[in-house]
Amino acid sequence: MTGCVAYSRVMNETSYMTPTLRPYRPQDLGQILDLWQREEAAPRADGLSVDQKVDLLGSEDSVSFVAQADERVVGVALAVVSGVIAWIYSVSIDHDQDRCEDIARRLLEEVEVVLAEKGARKLAATAASDGILRNALKARGYEETKLELMHRDVSAAVATPAALAELGGRMIDPNLWDELKGMDDVKEIIERRVILPLAEPDLAARHSVSPPRAIVLFGPPGTGKTTFAKGIASRLEWPFIEVQPAELAGEGAERQAKLLAHAFDLVLELEAAVVFVDEVEDLASERDADRKVNTSVTNEFLKQIPRFREAPHHLLVCATNAIGGLDGAFLRPGRFDYVLPAGPPDAEARRAIWTRYVSEITDEDIDIDLLVEATELFTPADIEFSADKAAQRAFEREHFDESSGRATTREFLFAIKRTRPSLTEEAIETFRKETKTFARD
Ligand SMILES: Nc1ncnc2c1ncn2[C@@H]1O[C@H](COP(=O)(O)OP(=O)(O)O)[C@@H](O)[C@H]1O
Ligand SMILES: [Mg+2]
Repeated sequence: MTGCVAYSRVMNETSYMTPTLRPYRPQDLGQILDLWQREEAAPRADGLSVDQKVDLLGSEDSVSFVAQADERVVGVALAVVSGVIAWIYSVSIDHDQDRCEDIARRLLEEVEVVLAEKGARKLAATAASDGILRNALKARGYEETKLELMHRDVSAAVATPAALAELGGRMIDPNLWDELKGMDDVKEIIERRVILPLAEPDLAARHSVSPPRAIVLFGPPGTGKTTFAKGIASRLEWPFIEVQPAELAGEGAERQAKLLAHAFDLVLELEAAVVFVDEVEDLASERDADRKVNTSVTNEFLKQIPRFREAPHHLLVCATNAIGGLDGAFLRPGRFDYVLPAGPPDAEARRAIWTRYVSEITDEDIDIDLLVEATELFTPADIEFSADKAAQRAFEREHFDESSGRATTREFLFAIKRTRPSLTEEAIETFRKETKTFARD
């Protein structure tokens, strides 16, 4: 509404034609769209896109009025009742109208009557701090608040809840990626080669970069493979779905394969998804005896991967801590774009992980170097476990001994001593060798 002819500039009263006001009719939509699109360029307070406003306009709860002059729609007020509260989302007046503020005020008046009739007992509105709507609202007795409008778009992928629910899928907290500390090498590879091309497919296509469709993460247990897969989903704002072939083990051979195929059908119906298959050795071990599922399931899974590769908004992430035992053909480049190691955390990574937990648990000055040194064979999961132990100890101390104060370095070191590390020198050596043999990035 910026750019509207100012009220004070109305010179010739006789040329001013008072618009008539009436409820919105679907045939007004074309003209309203023009009005909103012209307005798009100007900064608006409602934070809504034209599409979103069109949806609201057509919704059952919408209460909207237009101002019409000379057969032309020159203003529109958009409001929605929700129980006893009504929200006035926008009042837009054509830029070249005289007396904009006057029209805005009259539209408000009309809308308010209907909102009250529909049960609204409180009227709330979003308005730019410098726009005419704000003046019109003030003139009609609306009080200012110190609230700020905060908004965030929900990924389109969430809008398919039925299939998502059937698959046990969910949206992951967008902060998860940043909570993954250290592991900078693998993090950077995933950011640049996996997330970025998927998040910016047009730019990737311009440079002939093919976004990945399927990747494998390998490494000892507790090194963050599951968390990385979730982190990718959180960064892409795609739903995260875990498919567990081993869960099929109880079914008959043929049914196992059918169920798996059905799960993939549902996944591919979604607009987008990160699909995680943990412990993929259960279906892709070289030796039949090491597999938890029937060969028909393995074959079905292999058949499904090409379907995945055709789907631009689906990423398959497989994880394993037994990469050496996988069927060699399983990992071939035509199937998986990258095979990425998620290894034991080095000192830097341990420092980052410790710093995170320490800052959550205590405000005491903690000697992080000591903790880093004492946890050489710890995975991130082990560090998390011993950090929890230290917190529990400090909590018990305050409860039983009435000695207050949060966890200290001593308590952390004690908790570390009481935690059995998951890694061994041999496991680290094996991982190093596996990285040489299998990693592909
Ligand atoms: N790099 C990391 N930074 C912080 N926490 C981590 C990191 N990697 C793993 N964790 C934590 O360790 C635990 C185990 O990680 P997980 O992803 O389940 O490992 P994996 O799937 O490799 O066995 C999780 O609670 C996770 O939050
Ligand atoms: Mg895991």
